[in-house]
Amino acid sequence: MHRIIKEKLPRHIAVIMDGNGRWAKKNMLKRGMGHEKGAESVRTVVKTCRELGIPYLTLYAFSVENWQRPKNEVRALISLLETYLRTELGAMKETGIRLFTIGDADSFPKTLMDLLSRAKEETSENSGMVLTLALSYGGRDEIIRAVNNILRDSKSSNIGEKMITKDFFSHYLYTANIPDPDLLIRTSGEYRLSNFLLWQMAYTELYFTDTLWPDFSRDDMIEAIVDYQRRERRFGLISDQLPKD
Ligand code: FPP
Repeated sequence: MHRIIKEKLPRHIAVIMDGNGRWAKKNMLKRGMGHEKGAESVRTVVKTCRELGIPYLTLYAFSVENWQRPKNEVRALISLLETYLRTELGAMKETGIRLFTIGDADSFPKTLMDLLSRAKEETSENSGMVLTLALSYGGRDEIIRAVNNILRDSKSSNIGEKMITKDFFSHYLYTANIPDPDLLIRTSGEYRLSNFLLWQMAYTELYFTDTLWPDFSRDDMIEAIVDYQRRERRFGLISDQLPKD
């Protein structure tokens, strides 16, 4: 913890939580147990980020592609999300966490949708940290949705060709009110973005670790932040052009 420079914290950390299935296999358990242990890591990571003062944390909890998994696994993941919301709402309120979602959350069963609405509503005044769960989320789907919504709006307003700037477009994304991630963490030794925040991660620092998500600890999160803080973010410039800190 003492290795972290408080003034250089990432403002937004995004996480691809991968390796639950392999963790279960390694421990001779059913895949569902891997997800259960993964939910424990979610609790640890949320707590750690809140304590450190990270303003935005975004977790890839369920991708649009995950709907293609075996039905019992989809059910288990939905059930875990419900349990998570039931058990953590109190802690979110106490610690000032605001819950937000990105993705097509309307595709989930009513129980989960109701729990999500309630948690979002009851934490809407919190300002300690924004915890965003990506649910039924896909980066390409998000971009296509934005284009369609711009087309829809162009019928009732005078949106012209040259008006579509990067800033204008960003406002049509799910993440309109969230800054781009500074740091992406992906666990389990996979080196892919897997359709996560494709537009938003243009200049995000990528951190990959072999640790499987259920084993990802507070120390692992600290290590990822320390690694991030050693990097020089140039955004296409050269070192000499950057502000001296
Ligand atoms: C990837 O592991 C993980 C997921 C598809 C789901 C992530 C869900 C959780 C961590 C638990 C519930 C979430 C919350 C927010 C409470 P995988 O199954 O693809 O692992 P594998 O590649 O080893 O098979």
